[in-house]
Amino acid sequence: MSIGELLKTERKKVNISTLVAKKKKDEKAVFITAYDYPFSYLADQAGIDMILIGDSLGMTTLGHETTLPVTMEDMIRHSQAVKRGSKYAFLIGDMPFMSYQPSDRDAILNAGRFISEAGCDAVKLEGGRRVKDRVRAIVDAGIIVMGHLGLTPQNAAQMGGFRVQGKTVDQFEELLQDALALQEAGAALLLLEALPSEVASLIRARLSIPVYGIGAGGHVDGQLLIIHDLLGLFHRFTPKFVKKYASLGDDALQALQEYVSDVRSKKFPSPEHDYEINSEALEQIRLRAGRPCG
Ligand code: KIV
Repeated sequence: MSIGELLKTERKKVNISTLVAKKKKDEKAVFITAYDYPFSYLADQAGIDMILIGDSLGMTTLGHETTLPVTMEDMIRHSQAVKRGSKYAFLIGDMPFMSYQPSDRDAILNAGRFISEAGCDAVKLEGGRRVKDRVRAIVDAGIIVMGHLGLTPQNAAQMGGFRVQGKTVDQFEELLQDALALQEAGAALLLLEALPSEVASLIRARLSIPVYGIGAGGHVDGQLLIIHDLLGLFHRFTPKFVKKYASLGDDALQALQEYVSDVRSKKFPSPEHDYEINSEALEQIRLRAGRPCG
């Protein structure tokens, strides 16, 4: 379907009730990250239900090694761009490292910025029981919260790196207690990252809120992928759970190499790219150009 045809189809903005209803009907929600206007627009037009403005933008877009250097200012700037590109998707702002850890007050004020300055519909934060008071505080301020458990990149160092979680009974028990605590604290949505499919399914079965997964198998209420992984735009590594739907990085490289070659060989620009001017005006300009100034 072309963008023009898609524009004509009737769609409603996704809200929290839409997501709860989808879960009840066992309809999978499609969830993706976006960090800027063009990809947000394309995701929205493709019919994506939910967009996460992830702090992964630190790695995919700003070129950092980890997500840790990402600031609230980075997140707000990118969330605003995503908001401008999206009319329908449910937008979730990802709270960066140290925007909620220090205190309930920091958590409320920073969560509030995603809503009031960027126009997001909800915020996401990482962690289980240790952030349950933060979740409660943000929810009490009237903001929808998504929890995030499993591999949580902001504390990857404590986990010994980017590792699959939930592979032992103890880890499963910890994750389940964390998930129940987040739900109890008022989280309306939960994201599970890098868990065996069966483990994610068992956790989902114990919760009433919608549970989404990234690298957590198919037995959850929806799937998240990082847009740069899906489109082949992140060259440093590709996690096992990613399905690559395009190789835009390769296409972009080829296009840029052609551009370099065309300019150097004087093949570009050719007359078809030139602006026209009427011959009389040009003649006068030529005469003027030939005359010394002053
Ligand atoms: O920042 C992000 O994109 C995320 C996903 C990895 C879940 O938090």
